[in-house]
Amino acid sequence: MHIAFCCTDTKAEPWLQGLQAALPGATVQLWSPGAALADYAVVWAPPQAFFDEQTALRGVFNIGAGVDALVKLRLPDATQAPVVRLDDAGMSVQMAEYVCHAVIRHFREFDAYEADVARQEWSYRKPRRRSDFPVGIMGLGVLGERVSRALAQFDFPVRGWSRSAKTVPGVQCFSGLAGLNDFLAATRVLVCLLPLTPDTESIMRKETLERLLPGAYIINVARGAHLVDDDLMALIDSGHIAGATLDVFRVEPLPAGHPFWAHSKITVTPHTSARTLRDESIAQIAGKIQALHRGAPIASLAGVVDLKKGY
Ligand code: NAP
Ligand code: GLV
Repeated sequence: MHIAFCCTDTKAEPWLQGLQAALPGATVQLWSPGAALADYAVVWAPPQAFFDEQTALRGVFNIGAGVDALVKLRLPDATQAPVVRLDDAGMSVQMAEYVCHAVIRHFREFDAYEADVARQEWSYRKPRRRSDFPVGIMGLGVLGERVSRALAQFDFPVRGWSRSAKTVPGVQCFSGLAGLNDFLAATRVLVCLLPLTPDTESIMRKETLERLLPGAYIINVARGAHLVDDDLMALIDSGHIAGATLDVFRVEPLPAGHPFWAHSKITVTPHTSARTLRDESIAQIAGKIQALHRGAPIASLAGVVDLKKGY
């Protein structure tokens, strides 16, 4: 079995060693133009030339959860070579930590306390009512569902929105475009955990953000293109939105001088809410490659991307 590794912005050597150790019978090689045909590919943001050359693939494994960059390429026939994304692989607990931290920091006003303490001020703020902070999660998939359950543990009212109807204990679920306005109308803290597709691009724009409860707070941990930056800034200026915690941006790294960097009501982190964990990811990918190689049906694998839906 031959495995080609083609991941931009990733230190290749530890991945090559890890995949080789997990698949001792395989030949695992870093791809370069003209390399031998491989059976399986492990990729992150590969160039189109990779797929143009690699015409014998039986599976494409993405070392991330989001496949928005990958699905823009001309890919092999998915019935012969499924595209498989990471299915949790240690990301959902990180995402739950990040989002709970951001929600609680905002709800308990820890950012304001930090500013007071920096001025050596011993001040109290009036406790806020949890019932006034319903959290709405757009995307109730592998990550969104875990986040919704973690927030419900802190007794926040939790709402979720997905494409298909769902039932999650402790979460008020809405679905489809028909359910979007009702979902937004009683949401105070909006968390985006959607895949980036033509249907979800710019979903957080003036018309949708205006439907949130006054004093809303935005947490974007999905993709930068889900949010219209100028609309967020205008709604913060108007007072309808209290602030935002943003982990993802239309251009990454966030360009120098972008107004988000220094905005007093916006907290920026460098796309770090849920990192790809190498050991967990290698174990998951190697297990799936072995299963496919033994002849397991594609549908039996978790995380197979539906190219028609784009996620
Ligand atoms: P997932 O399991 O595929 O879940 C996606 C969820 O979004 C599903 O509930 C899906 O609905 C819903 N959805 C998709 N299109 C929709 C639409 N048009 N309307 C309403 N709901 C829609 O994905 P995941 O593993 O949770 O990951 C979600 C995203 O998080 C990734 O695509 C990636 O962009 C982002 N991410 C970011 C980081 C980071 O570090 N910032 C790390 C990992 C992932 P159904 O359940 O009905 O299909
Ligand atoms: C990170 O953003 C991922 O999609 O895994």
